Amino acid sequence: MLKSNKNKVRYGIERDKARFFHGRKEEISRFKDLMVESKIKNVGSSFLVQGAPGIGKTALLEECKKIAKKSKWTVVDISIGTLMNEVDFFYRITKNKDSKAVIQSQEVNLGVWKASLTAKTREEINYVNEELVKSMPLLLVLDEAQILGIEGVVSTENKAKVVEFLKQYHNLQSKKGFIMLFGGLGMTKDVLQSFGLSRFNSEYTINLQKLDKQAERNIIEDWIKKEAKAKGNPEYWVDKISTRTYQWPRHIISYCNAVHNQLLDTKELSQESLNNVLKEGDELKKVYYEQRCAGLLIEDCEAIANTIKILPEFFRKSEVIHFFTKEDSLLKPEELFQTCLSRGIFHLNNNRLFSIPIPSLKTWLIDEYS
Ligand SMILES: Nc1ncnc2c1ncn2[C@@H]1O[C@H](COP(=O)(O)OP(=O)(O)OP(=O)(O)O)[C@@H](O)[C@H]1O
Ligand SMILES: [Mg+2]
Repeated sequence: MLKSNKNKVRYGIERDKARFFHGRKEEISRFKDLMVESKIKNVGSSFLVQGAPGIGKTALLEECKKIAKKSKWTVVDISIGTLMNEVDFFYRITKNKDSKAVIQSQEVNLGVWKASLTAKTREEINYVNEELVKSMPLLLVLDEAQILGIEGVVSTENKAKVVEFLKQYHNLQSKKGFIMLFGGLGMTKDVLQSFGLSRFNSEYTINLQKLDKQAERNIIEDWIKKEAKAKGNPEYWVDKISTRTYQWPRHIISYCNAVHNQLLDTKELSQESLNNVLKEGDELKKVYYEQRCAGLLIEDCEAIANTIKILPEFFRKSEVIHFFTKEDSLLKPEELFQTCLSRGIFHLNNNRLFSIPIPSLKTWLIDEYS
C-alpha cells in the first residue's frame, strides 16, 4: 500500500498546467498560425485537440492559453453549460474585464445591464455578447467537449441553443482575433459535427499522439533535477523509467510523481531509490487503470476483458457487440460499448476503427478480469 503524506504529490495528478512542458512543437506552431490567420482574415475559427485519455490534451490546451495570454488575448474558459446559457457566457467574458466601453456604446449602463440581465431577452444578451467578443482578441476554451455527445447531457430544447451558439461563433467576423479551442476524446469532432459544427479545417484539427522520445526524457529529467533537486547525473534513471512509460504523458507523470516522493528526503540517485520509484510508478499506473473501470461491476469488467482478449489491435463496433452479446454482462452490449467509449477504454481512430489506446491497459484488464 502507498502511504499518504501531506508533502507527497496528490495521486489524483494535476489536470491543469504541466509542471514541465515538453514536445508538441508542431501542434503549438499550428495554433500560433491560427492566431495570426484569425487576425489577418478577420474571421474566427476553431482549433480542436482530440485524443485518448492521458495523451496530454489538457496540458496542450493550457500551453495554448499561455501563448494567447502572452500575446494579450483574453482567455475565457467555458463549460458545456455556457453553450446553452447566454447569461453565464456574459459573466465569463466580462469577468476581470472593463466591459464598460462596449456596453456604453449601446447606451446601456453596465451596472443596470448586469442587474437586469434576467429580464433581457436571449436576443439582446446574445447581441451584447457578440459585440463584447468582437471588442477584444479572444480565445474561448472548452475542454472535455466530448461530453456534449453523452445521451441526456443536452436536452432537445437545449440542443437548439448549443447549435445556435456554435453557429454564431464559429467563423465569427472579428477584426481583433477570435478562436474557439476545443479539447476532448477521440470522437469529439464527430460530436461537434452532430451539433452543426461542420467546417473543421484539417490543419487545425489535432489528433494528438504520444510524445516523442526526447520530450519523454526531458520531462523525466526535469522532474529529477528541477523538481526533486537530485544530485548527480540522471541519465541512468531516465533510461530505466522510460522503459515503463510508453511516451504516454499520463504514465510518465505517474513515475515522475514517484520520483518526487522517493527523493523527498534523500537527494541521492541510488539503485534502491530507483527500485522504489519503479515500484511506486507501477502502482500509480494501476490506480489509473482502476479509475477507468470505477463504477463498473465485476460482470461487466469480465465481459470487457474476455472480449478484448480476442479482438485485433483495430476493431469494429459490430465485432465488439457480437462478443459482448455472448457475455453475461449486466449492462446491455450497446450500453457497455458506450461506457468503454466514454471512459476512453476504447478509442475511435482516424481509420474509423476502434482500439484500446492506453498502453498496457489491455494487458492489465486481461490479467485482472479475464
Ligand atoms: N507535453 C507535456 N509535457 C509535460 N507534461 C505533460 C505533457 N502533456 C501532458 N503532461 C502531463 O501528463 C498528464 C496527463 O496529461 P493531460 O491531463 O493533459 O491529459 P488529457 O489528455 O487531458 O487526459 P484526460 O483525457 O484524462 O483529460 C498531466 O499530468 C499533464 O500535466
Ligand atoms: Mg484532459
